[in-house]
Amino acid sequence: MYDYDLLVVGSANADLVIGVERRPGAGETVLGSDLVVHPGGKGANQAVAAARLGARTALLARVGDDGHGRLLLGSLRAAGVDTSGVLTGGAPTGVALITVDPSGDNSIVVSPGANGRLAPEDVRAAGSLLRASRVVSAQLEIPPGTVAEVVRALAPGSRFVLNPSPPRPLPPEVLAACDPLIVNEHEARVLLGADGAGGGPEEWARGLLATGPRSVVVTLGAEGALTASAAGEVHRIPAVRVDAVDTTGAGDAFTAALAWRLGVGDPLPVAAAHAARVGAVAVTRAGAQASYPTAAELEPDGAAGPAAPARPTAAHRGALSGVRSERAYGG
Ligand code: RIB
Repeated sequence: MYDYDLLVVGSANADLVIGVERRPGAGETVLGSDLVVHPGGKGANQAVAAARLGARTALLARVGDDGHGRLLLGSLRAAGVDTSGVLTGGAPTGVALITVDPSGDNSIVVSPGANGRLAPEDVRAAGSLLRASRVVSAQLEIPPGTVAEVVRALAPGSRFVLNPSPPRPLPPEVLAACDPLIVNEHEARVLLGADGAGGGPEEWARGLLATGPRSVVVTLGAEGALTASAAGEVHRIPAVRVDAVDTTGAGDAFTAALAWRLGVGDPLPVAAAHAARVGAVAVTRAGAQASYPTAAELEPDGAAGPAAPARPTAAHRGALSGVRSERAYGG
């Protein structure tokens, strides 16, 4: 009935990555590794992650008519993503300036570029893609009006998944469509505001559910994840222990895997446990899209296995020399 398991509506960025011993404070200069340029952006990352897992995936996004745009289109097509909805022009391709420290944690500044020109009319023009998609996912590196238009254009029966990153206030119609709303601790605290951000993950999930979503997933990194539904079901998802190299894009892999598994009928906690395994593999490798596993790699006897770290390429080693730490990953 549906041509696509997942339609991702969102950003596509060139990730300019430098490995650092520590991130600089205000007014400080530090030296880092050689620069590496990866295909990234939360939307493109989700699309590549889902396609690698075997989901029939399309992306609605906008890139510039430039080398970074071509880098992104190449990565998307290599993963098997349908790029008929990737528009070109209007501004340079979005860029993310990323530093990664020895713990594998990152800091990111995004210049939206063409992502900021993905307009509500682009969503309306992509009606056939929306109608053909079982699950639609979005993030917030594109204009908020565009995300609201996605919600209005959803086909009856299709499911909407939102990772509100970077976080900003959301209109009630968008919150009410989320099934689930997927947040990390930072996003939960921003969305809940000063009054609602006390307590722990279960309180945050309940607080967020009260704003309208049908379900909520709180990702907790080394503490795993928590799922909660409007019907009152709460589940803790344990973390998967891995040897972390780079956490960039692991949350996008988690969201993509979760959205896909929900679409094929997994209950929310089962889908979240699968997503935690996918995110765990992603943190063992450098970069965002380059780090995502195939379905075969997740099998117990697969090439990499869920917890076996893949070796970074020579370019990655240059950017991330010395960057490695033991940790758990749950999303
Ligand atoms: O979530 C990771 C992504 O955030 C990076 O790929 C970067 O492009 C930013 O969008």
